[in-house]
Amino acid sequence: MMSDEANETNRLAVLISGRGSNMLALARAVREGAIPNAQIAVVVSDRASAPGLKLAAEQGIATLVVERRGRAREEHEREIIAALRARRVDLVCLAGYMRLLSPVFVEAYRWRTLNIHPSLLPAFPGLDAQRQALEHGVKWTGCTVHFVDETLDGGPIIEQRVVPVLDSDTVETLAARILAEEHKAYPAAVARVLRGDFQVIGRRVVAKSR
Ligand code: GAR
Repeated sequence: MMSDEANETNRLAVLISGRGSNMLALARAVREGAIPNAQIAVVVSDRASAPGLKLAAEQGIATLVVERRGRAREEHEREIIAALRARRVDLVCLAGYMRLLSPVFVEAYRWRTLNIHPSLLPAFPGLDAQRQALEHGVKWTGCTVHFVDETLDGGPIIEQRVVPVLDSDTVETLAARILAEEHKAYPAAVARVLRGDFQVIGRRVVAKSR
C-alpha cells in the first residue's frame, strides 16, 4: 500500500506518448480488480496526437496533454510534476512514454515511477528494442518492468517475462508476441508494488523477509 491512509485508494498516473495499449491493460486490471484498491487518476501524454489519449477518454479516464515540443526537459517535467501533485498521484507508470526523464522527475517520484521496456534488460535498452533483439540473433527475449532511476532503462527490475524468437519472426510479429506479455507483466508488477510486497537489496527487488 502506497497511499498514506490504510484504506485509501492508490492513485496512479500513466504517462504515454503513443498507442496506449499498456495503459489500457492497466486500466482493465484496475477495473477487474487485478490491481486492487487503485484508480487511474490521469493519463498524461507529451504528444497531443497520441492515439492512447482517445482510448483513455473512452474509458472515462481523465487525460492531460503536456506538450514537450520546443521546451526544455526540466521545465516540461516540472509542469507534469505539478499536475501529478495536484491530483495526489501515488504511483507513476511510464507506458510507451518516449522521453527520457531527468533527475528532477526521478527525484520527485523515486521508487514511485515504473517503466515497461520490450526486452530482457539489461539487453537492448533504448529505442527499437525488438529490432535490436532480432538483429542480434538472440533466441529468447521478452519484457521488463523496472523502477526508474537516472539511467536509461537501468533501474532495479521488478518483473520480467520471456518470449521466444522464432526463425520466421519479423520485428512486427516479435513485437506483438512481446506486447501480449507486457500486458500481463505490467499489471502484475504494479499490483506487487502497491502491495508493498518487496524490499530492495542493492539492485535486487526481492520478497520481504519475514
Ligand atoms: C511498448 O512495447 C513499450 O514496452 C515500449 O513502447 C511500446 C508502447 O506501446 N516502450 C519502450 O520502448 C520504452 N523504451 P503502447 O503505447 O501500446 O503501450
